[in-house]
Amino acid sequence: MPYDRPVIRVEPPGPKAREFIKKHHELIMTSTHDPENLPLVIERAEGVWLVDVDNNVYLDFTSSIAVNNLGYPTHPEIARAINEQLSVLAHAAGTDFYNPYQIALAELLTSIAPGEFGKKVFFSNSGTEANEAAIKISRYSTNRKYFISFIGSFHGRTMGSLSLTASKPVHKKRFYMTMPGVIHVPFPNPYRNPWGIDGYEHPEELVNRVLEYIEYWVFEHQVPADEVAAIFFEPIQGEGGYVVPPKSFFGELKKLADKYGILLADDEVQMGLGRTGKMFAIENFGVAPDIITLAKALGAGAIPIGATIFRKDLDLEPGAHSNTFGGHALAAVVAIKNIEITKNLLQHVTELEKLFCERLASLKEKYPSVGDVRGLGLAWGVEFVKNKKTREHDPKTRNRVVYEALKRGLVLLGCGKSSIRLIPPLTITEEQAKIGLEIFEEAVKAAH
Ligand SMILES: Cc1ncc(COP(=O)(O)O)c(C=O)c1O
Repeated sequence: MPYDRPVIRVEPPGPKAREFIKKHHELIMTSTHDPENLPLVIERAEGVWLVDVDNNVYLDFTSSIAVNNLGYPTHPEIARAINEQLSVLAHAAGTDFYNPYQIALAELLTSIAPGEFGKKVFFSNSGTEANEAAIKISRYSTNRKYFISFIGSFHGRTMGSLSLTASKPVHKKRFYMTMPGVIHVPFPNPYRNPWGIDGYEHPEELVNRVLEYIEYWVFEHQVPADEVAAIFFEPIQGEGGYVVPPKSFFGELKKLADKYGILLADDEVQMGLGRTGKMFAIENFGVAPDIITLAKALGAGAIPIGATIFRKDLDLEPGAHSNTFGGHALAAVVAIKNIEITKNLLQHVTELEKLFCERLASLKEKYPSVGDVRGLGLAWGVEFVKNKKTREHDPKTRNRVVYEALKRGLVLLGCGKSSIRLIPPLTITEEQAKIGLEIFEEAVKAAH
């Protein structure tokens, strides 16, 4: 280390990797592993480079699912902050006692989150917990029963957040019943929606159809609008395929929500903290939600932490919700340092957006299986189809591209039914990004 290109010494999975993978399957719960998982056993990492147990070096275009936004193993300033804080205070029951570290983080988060209104924060350890808190805050503060969320969305796997999730049936198989009262509606996916509208050509038509769907098919046929507590959404659907809705969508959704006194709960667990070139992805759409959830990148790949930022007037009464590790002093210090570093990366992310946009758009022109390319900042999705006219999903080609890329030293992850997400650490240089995009094209070519 450091590296300037991937180095593949043995085709993955190499002999050592195969041994670890076999053992892993004997010992670790099977449900955590998708059959499509990469045969990648990572031993160490530096910057944007992952090194496996067979000493292969890969360029990372996954940020370990939008967690390691500052690269690997731990950003030196974060490592320094951790070491200093460890000798001062790591944990002292942040929900039973008080500590200055969580107060400082809450001050920071409430000051940078969109919305000119008073805000408060609840701290937890993961995305699903941040969303569980958002569910409880919505129900408690409105005293309403129902929720709306979008088809294709992913909000977590515990029973409340799972009920909002609608990206793959396997997440819910045999787990019925989850939390009752969630109604799923179509997301304004410009490329693939129930009405066959080309949402790139006709974004307003697509937005109107979704809003009409909610007002007519939900409020006039299923549940009264004044019993809906909140609409949950991801500003860009992540697990669902990195789907970017039309620019006007959330503004119009907010008008509809306000009309009926419904809260907007914005799940930024995957898209938040600089990934789109803004600290919060919803800032790209000019809307201030009532509740925002964060996790993944908030701990900079060093420590788990989740946060639920909400309008102050939605607060719960003492004892109504709490946990053990929320407000963990060490986690708070990491998140504060992380936000300071990320603020200085936003411009860089916006500059790299153009490179990704141009290179990926050119693939759409060149290759018959590249059906759609969409993204913002360093959050890009490429969807593979069998036929550009029918837009039939092509998961086989998608999986082949992921494997061809791995063989060449680029790590990618799938999403949606037949898409790939390209989400490198925000610290990636332009040169490294170009290497990754070149390998991506080679993999697409090889998969044809
Ligand atoms: C948008 C979104 N929300 C919630 C979650 C759940 O987060 P966690 O796995 O930390 O519970 C995820 C995880 O992928 C996510 O992408």
